[in-house]
Amino acid sequence: MLRYLTAGESHGKGLIAILEGMPSNLPLSAKDVDVDLARRQEGPGRGGRMKIEKDKVDFISGVRHGKTLGSPIGIFIPNKDFKNWTEIMSAEKGSAGEKVTKLRPGHADLAGILKYGFDDVRNVLERASARETAARVAVGAVCKKFLSEFGIKINSKVVHVGGAEGEKEIKALIEKIKAEGDTLGGVFEVTAAGVPAGLGSYVQWDRKLDGRISQAIMSIPAIKGVEIGLGFENSGRKGSAVHDEIFYDEKGYGHKTNNAGGLEGGVTNGEDIVIRAAMKPISTLLKPLKSVDLKTKKSAQAHVERSDVAAVEAAAVVGEAGLAYELARVMLEKFGHDSLPDIKAAFQSYLKRIR
Ligand SMILES: Cc1cc2nc3c(=O)[nH]c(=O)nc-3n(C[C@H](O)[C@H](O)[C@H](O)COP(=O)(O)O)c2cc1C
Repeated sequence: MLRYLTAGESHGKGLIAILEGMPSNLPLSAKDVDVDLARRQEGPGRGGRMKIEKDKVDFISGVRHGKTLGSPIGIFIPNKDFKNWTEIMSAEKGSAGEKVTKLRPGHADLAGILKYGFDDVRNVLERASARETAARVAVGAVCKKFLSEFGIKINSKVVHVGGAEGEKEIKALIEKIKAEGDTLGGVFEVTAAGVPAGLGSYVQWDRKLDGRISQAIMSIPAIKGVEIGLGFENSGRKGSAVHDEIFYDEKGYGHKTNNAGGLEGGVTNGEDIVIRAAMKPISTLLKPLKSVDLKTKKSAQAHVERSDVAAVEAAAVVGEAGLAYELARVMLEKFGHDSLPDIKAAFQSYLKRIR
């Protein structure tokens, strides 16, 4: 079984992930992961932190001579900002050394302090922060490498940011909103091409791949909607304008359209997987909303923390990681777990059968 856990606070020593269940003999280098870590840090609207962090992965286990061992892969991503943070803590009042008590609407602040019994929001935000998604992206990059051995390719694109489409329009809108002290969300799309039919299952609710992918995407901070294929648009169309007609030719089965987004009955149907996710606007506002100071219970303006104005492009890279992880899991469930050549042999024999 493929599984992973992450640990690490936003300004702690670093992030760690343990990815267990990756088979042996998969070629893997730090470069394979660093490319995606860099992509997660890009895109218009990112905050000052991105100039400090240049994320690089350090495999502390599970890889030897450039190949996986089948043992748990230990992933470490140091936080460069840790050094700066400890210095700031002793140097400046009003910085990380001080308790944060003014709750930010839209963040995990209020829910977190109530749940865990804190008088300092920093105890919440350090882990609730999307910094944790760097560890997910590292795990996803390993999964992508595995999937690439089978010709499966994951991609993403930004559909819109705050309603603006296209690089120029998006940048211009972000600049305008930034000057207003406000923030934006948007929509991104993640796709998987080259996916064979028959991954996932309809036999039990928790084995349905559409549900599993949705959780991987919905659990990304600030994602509030996930749709597969036509998604919400399905509900307003006639059946004849939704369902994808089936044909058979020398390559095997196919569909004339892909409104289902590659998934029927919780199982891949051989078409590309197409997922869209809606991201709400970033909750830390330079011009803060009204809130409450948890120390005094009196009304106050929300805490302002160095922050992104928009992070849709980065969230899309995290979305790629979520899709890659779930696809790697179902591939391993179907074709075996231990060694890459054995899995490839099982995969080839399956492809022959379904053609
Ligand atoms: C890539 C990425 C970057 C983010 N950057 C910020 C940020 O700089 N400031 C902020 O307040 N929220 C940021 N968020 C969103 C918060 O982490 C998120 O809204 C918060 O954890 C509350 O969770 P929820 O929105 O899922 O309910 C970011 C999210 C993602 C995916």
